[in-house]
Amino acid sequence: MNTGYSGGIPDEVIEAVLQHNDIVDTVGKYVHLTKQGKYMKGLCPFHSEKTPSFTVTPERQIFYCYGCGAGGNAIKFRMEIDGLSFPEAVRLMAEESHVPFQDGKGAAATPQNKELERLLQAHEWAAKLFHYLLKNTEHGKSAMEYLRARGFGDKLIDQFQIGYAPDRWDTLVQFFEKRSFDLKEMEKGGLLSPRQNGSGYVDRFRGRVMFPIMNRSGRVIAFAGRILGEGQPKYLNSPESRLFNKSRTLYNLNLAKGPIRKQGQIVLMEGFGDVIAAWDAGVQHTVATMGTALTDNHASLIRTLTEEVVVCYDGDNAGQAAALKSIPILEGAGLHVKIAVLQNGLDPDEYIKTYGQERFVEQIIHGAVSTTKFRLIYIKKNYNLLEEDGKAAYAQEAINVIANLGSPTEREVYLKELSVEVGVSLDSLKQDCNLARQTLNRKQPQSGQQGGRGGGSGGNGRSSRKPTAPTLLPAYHVAERRLLSIMLQDGEAATYVAQHLGEAFNIPEHAALAAYIYSYYAQGKAPDVSRFIGSLHDDRLEKTATSISMMDAPLDETLRGMDDYIREIKKFPQQKLIEQKREDMLRAEKSGDFLRAAQIASEIITLERQ
Ligand code: CTP
Ligand code: MN
Repeated sequence: MNTGYSGGIPDEVIEAVLQHNDIVDTVGKYVHLTKQGKYMKGLCPFHSEKTPSFTVTPERQIFYCYGCGAGGNAIKFRMEIDGLSFPEAVRLMAEESHVPFQDGKGAAATPQNKELERLLQAHEWAAKLFHYLLKNTEHGKSAMEYLRARGFGDKLIDQFQIGYAPDRWDTLVQFFEKRSFDLKEMEKGGLLSPRQNGSGYVDRFRGRVMFPIMNRSGRVIAFAGRILGEGQPKYLNSPESRLFNKSRTLYNLNLAKGPIRKQGQIVLMEGFGDVIAAWDAGVQHTVATMGTALTDNHASLIRTLTEEVVVCYDGDNAGQAAALKSIPILEGAGLHVKIAVLQNGLDPDEYIKTYGQERFVEQIIHGAVSTTKFRLIYIKKNYNLLEEDGKAAYAQEAINVIANLGSPTEREVYLKELSVEVGVSLDSLKQDCNLARQTLNRKQPQSGQQGGRGGGSGGNGRSSRKPTAPTLLPAYHVAERRLLSIMLQDGEAATYVAQHLGEAFNIPEHAALAAYIYSYYAQGKAPDVSRFIGSLHDDRLEKTATSISMMDAPLDETLRGMDDYIREIKKFPQQKLIEQKREDMLRAEKSGDFLRAAQIASEIITLERQ
C-alpha cells in the first residue's frame, strides 16, 4: 500500500486542490462559522442540531463534528455536502479553482471519456432546448396546458427543468447537426433513433413532456418523456447507456441529497410525478426508482446518504407488493425501514391532489409505520374480520409474523393490538406465539431470534450508528490515539515510533493509519493533516484520522510521553495473554488437573515479570 493511490488522480492534483481550497472558505459557503480561539464553530450541516458542535480548524485544514463524527479535509467536505464521489469532488474543485485536472490514467484525454463528455454536453443542451420550447413557443402550448391541469406551476417546471419535445422528427437532429455533434454518437447515447427504412436519424422523443434525469451531481444523463394524456407507452425513457444505468440512478437525488442529510431520512417513491408533488408539499428528501424494481445498488447508494428510509409506494396492489419486496433489500444494506401506507389505490401524487399537502405530510409521511406493522396491514387485507373464521385465520398468520421479532417487548406490543382486533385474550395469543417461535427455532437453530423472511425488523438497522466520542477508552486505546496524534504532527516522532513500535498497534485501524503515516513521510512530505487525509480514500480511516487529529495534544509535552505510550501499547497483548492463561488455569483447576494448573501458573508469573 502506498499513499499514492487515489482512484487514478495524481497526488499533485489533490494537493493543489487542497492548497487552492482553504477549509474555512470551503465550509463557509455552506455553514455560518464564528471564531472561537483556534477553532471556528457552527451548526453541523450533516445532522440537525440546535447548539453548534461542528468545528473547523484552520491550522490543520480540517472539519470535525463532535455530534455526529463527520470529519475530514476540504475535499471530504464537498463530497459529503454535495453528495459527490472522491474523483467527482476533486474534479469539480479543480475546475472551480483553475487547477489543471487530469487523472492518472490520462483518462481525461481518452477518446472514450471525450465521447462521454460530449454526450453529457448533448443532454444538457437538449434539456435546455426542451425547457425553452415548452415555456416560450407555440409548440409547447398543449404540453403547458397539460402540466397546468396537473398542477405544475412555473416554479416546479423550472426547478425540475421540465420541457417539451415537439411532435416532429427532427428537432434534436437539426439542433445537433448545426452544432456538429456526431449523430451516430447521439443515437448510441439514446437521444436519436435510426430511421426505420433508409439511412440517417430521427428524434427519439416526439410529442412528449420531458423530465430530465440527473445524476448525483446534477448533470443530465437521461430523459423520461411522458405522453400528453392517455396513450402507450405512457413513459418513454432513455435506453441504458454508459451514461445512464437505471439500477444505480435515483430520480431527484441531486436536489434531495441536502434535505436527506438534514432530515436524517430519505423517502422512496415509484414515480417522477410523485416526487415532484411531494417536493411541492415540502417533502424534499424524496427520490424515485423510476418504475424499475429497487436493486441492491439503489439500497447501498441510499445507505451512503442516510440510515433511515421511508418507503412510500403506490397504494395499489402492485405498489404494496413492491413495498413488501423492498424491505429485505433495504434492511440488507443496513437501513432502518419504515413504510408510509397509502390506501384506496392512490399514488402519492393523487393522494396529495385529493387530500391536500398537509394531510399527506402529517398522516402519510409522519405516520409511516414499522415494517412489522406494515406486514400485518398487508396480510389483513386478505381476510374478512367480520367473520369468526376470517379472524382466526388472520390471527394465525399475524402471529407467524410477530413470532419473528427478536424483542419480547415488541412482540407484546403487537400481540396486544392483535388481541383487540380479533377479540382473543392476550394470554392465548402469547401461547400461540411461543409455539410459533419454537417451530421457527427448530427450522433455523443457529439464528433463532432473527427470523428468516426479514422479520427481525426490531430496529436492527439503527444499531449501525457508532458512538463517536471516545468515552472511557482502555489505556492502550488512548495511548494509540495519542501516539498517532503526535505522529501526524511530527515526522521525526513518526520515525521514532516506526523504529520502536512499527505497526504493532492493537487496533487494526490504528495499525493501518500508522502504515499510511510512515509511507506519507517516506515520500518526503511535511506534516499536514489535511494532505494526509487526502491520501487515504477510506471513509473509516479518514474519520478516525480526523477524530485523532482533533485531540488537543500539546506536542512538546507528549513527546516525552512517547515511550510510556509505546510501553502501554506493547503491554496490551501480553495482558490479554495473561488473562487467557488465567482462564485456562481456572478451567484446569475445575477439572481436577492440578499439575497443568500449576504449570500455567508459573507461565503467568514469567509473563507478569516481563
Ligand atoms: N414508468 C415507466 N414506463 C412506463 C410506465 C411507468 O418508466 N411505461 C415509470 C415511471 O418512472 C413512472 C413510474 O414508473 O413514474 C410509476 O409508474 P406509474 O405509477 O404508472 O406512473 P405515474 O408516476 O403515476 O405517472 P403519471 O402520474 O404521470 O401518470
Ligand atoms: Mn401518478
